[in-house]
Amino acid sequence: MRRAIFPGSFDPLTNGHLDIIRRSLPLFDEIIIAVLNNPDKNPMFSVEERCGMISEILPDIENGKCCLTVDSFSGLTADFAREQKATAIVRGIRAVSDYEYELRMALMNRRLEPEIETVFLMAAEEYSYVSSNLMKQVFTLGGRVEGLVPALVESKMKEKLSKK
Ligand code: PNS
Repeated sequence: MRRAIFPGSFDPLTNGHLDIIRRSLPLFDEIIIAVLNNPDKNPMFSVEERCGMISEILPDIENGKCCLTVDSFSGLTADFAREQKATAIVRGIRAVSDYEYELRMALMNRRLEPEIETVFLMAAEEYSYVSSNLMKQVFTLGGRVEGLVPALVESKMKEKLSKK
């Protein structure tokens, strides 16, 4: 059983994340989308809201033989990966600028859990500039994010903004 985790803040999930999930499907039997519960970060969506949105979106993905699930975690990614008996941590790389940060994380995670490999996948060029933070900023300032986040995420962002 090849089980991987795909950890992240996912505040919110973007089409760039979905692109990485789709690319990782043929590589694993099971992928757990692992949403970090990090209350210090003052997220737009609570961890429950983020997990809920992802669970609603996952059935739209043609997942073939790979089982896709979502879970939240606190603490170290390496600990969560070990607890889940995962053999890999999936991370997406959009541009060279991501590389140094990702390399440091991958090496630290390897030091913590030498048996677990980080697998980097390159996001499609069209998402090379898409990040959750940029989506939140542009949306909050009235810009369009259509096509860059799933429609459900866009409507939940609208809801959030209207409640402010
Ligand atoms: O989507 P993000 O914010 O780029 O994801 C970053 C994440 C959640 C993968 C990273 O911050 C993380 O792993 N946090 C958990 C704490 C941890 O394990 N820190 C050490 C990483 S080497």
